[in-house]
Amino acid sequence: MKYKSQKIAQDFYTFAVLLFFVQIAVGIIAAFQFIWPDFFILNFNTVRTLHINALVVWLLTGLMGATYFVVPEESQSELWSIPLARFQFWATVVAVTVVVVGYIWMGLNPQANKFVFGTTLLNEGREYIEAPRWADLLIALSVILFLFNNFMTMYKSRRWTGIQGTLLGGLTFLTLMYLPGMFYTKSMVKDQFWWWWVVHLWVEGSWEVIAGALLAFMLMKVTNAPRHVLERWMYIEVALVLFTGILGLGHHYYWIGTPRYWLWVGGIFSALEPIPLLLMVWDAFRVTREHRVVSNRLGLFYAVAHAIFNFVGAGLWGVIHTLPMVNKWTHGTQITTAHGHLAFYGAYVLLVVSMIYITLPLIRGATEFNTSRGYRSFWWMTISMIFIVLTITGAGMVQTYMERLLGLDYVTVKANYNLWFWVFRAIFGFGFLYGVFLFVVDFFKLGKEPVEVPVKVASETTT
Ligand code: HEM
Ligand code: HEM
Ligand SMILES: [Fe+2]
Repeated sequence: MKYKSQKIAQDFYTFAVLLFFVQIAVGIIAAFQFIWPDFFILNFNTVRTLHINALVVWLLTGLMGATYFVVPEESQSELWSIPLARFQFWATVVAVTVVVVGYIWMGLNPQANKFVFGTTLLNEGREYIEAPRWADLLIALSVILFLFNNFMTMYKSRRWTGIQGTLLGGLTFLTLMYLPGMFYTKSMVKDQFWWWWVVHLWVEGSWEVIAGALLAFMLMKVTNAPRHVLERWMYIEVALVLFTGILGLGHHYYWIGTPRYWLWVGGIFSALEPIPLLLMVWDAFRVTREHRVVSNRLGLFYAVAHAIFNFVGAGLWGVIHTLPMVNKWTHGTQITTAHGHLAFYGAYVLLVVSMIYITLPLIRGATEFNTSRGYRSFWWMTISMIFIVLTITGAGMVQTYMERLLGLDYVTVKANYNLWFWVFRAIFGFGFLYGVFLFVVDFFKLGKEPVEVPVKVASETTT
């Protein structure tokens, strides 16, 4: 670690990693509820809200931590204000905890979600961003402080690199895109229209821009590849992400009451979205092949896996149902859920985990660390996720056929024909949880335990 203020990243990572564990534990409860709907004291709707909100929040916290590491490094100076970063961290932790308690409270007493000043007190009811208005304002404030702190660090140092500029641009775009999810309209169509700005323009716009910048940073850091080459490809990838992703938004406007031209716009632009993701995979492989001196193999391994699964989960599992003539049948089925899982896992879970594996050893001053737990964690998580996605894709195919083509009702298909898929998903869920457990243990132990020296096995005994 070159600058002591980079250490603040660790606090953000810690909170992120703990929430990751909670997200998965809660996901398993949700998976059980597909088999036994009455399992657990909280209903499925509350459990699901906790699962996906925890996901979004821990990923955002992880990205904030990563930014606090990258910006001083790239600016070659200390962070503008460490107390501000610390304040922003605790404000985030407190706000998130209160919101979570609110969700649970509402799950136990649905009446508690009262109307106060024209907004609801505990839950706003927009999937992924259910946090109530007062929390929205706190979150927006926290993010603005975070952006300001990083901007001032760059401004003060007068050192503008492509990586940090792109990172800051992506983060600003991310913040702006939170705002359309904050106002009410009486029309359900308009409400959905704006809500998709947040969800889609986050994961297929601003977050991918951030991923492009962090991928370039990671490759540079572990392989020592030249900055100008990495930045040139980063600009091309990011430009293509925005070119295809912004109008790709149309793939959510097919059936919600918006004009018909969205069928064309959404279909064409979203079908092009996998291209920049494929470029990122190629970039990662090319750099790895050309620069064989690798300082952190485990970190590089995760970074390359992130590029691959970003393409597979978002690109491939996205493009299969993105054309209107396909989406007409698959919309809102388990095919969507399968894609949601692999895309978020590949693009953002692996991104945050790879940033942690690349920066945490530097923060802890560990020149060497045991990597075996990190690899085992990767395989447990990834193989389990692949099987979860395959089972849910299978469930989605059965669901599409029986419900949409044969006209059987939703519950009949869910409770009978899909049952075995739910059982298998729950089993693989435990495999995933074990992988996360290994990762959490590794996170806390990294750099703090003695490095195992490979034991030399006595070679052929001469007799
Ligand atoms: C990392 C990037 C991505 C993430 C994290 C992601 C995640 C998601 C999630 C969670 C949903 C479900 C939203 C809901 O609750 O209804 C969704 C829907 C969808 N995604 Fe993605 N996605 C990504 C990229 C893509 C790409 C690149 C494509 C197309 C090539 C795509 C195509 C779709 C489509 C068509 C739907 C709507 C499915 C339906 O009609 O039910 N996604 N995505
Ligand atoms: C890092 C890993 C995971 C990620 C990124 C993730 C992400 C998501 C997302 C984005 C959704 C909303 C999908 C949609 O709207 O279609 C969701 C729902 C869900 N997840 Fe996960 N999840 C993960 C792990 C798990 C695990 C291990 C389980 C348990 C086996 C699980 C069980 C569920 C269930 C049951 C739902 C509700 C599905 C539905 O409404 O049809 N998730 N998850
Ligand atoms: Fe989308």
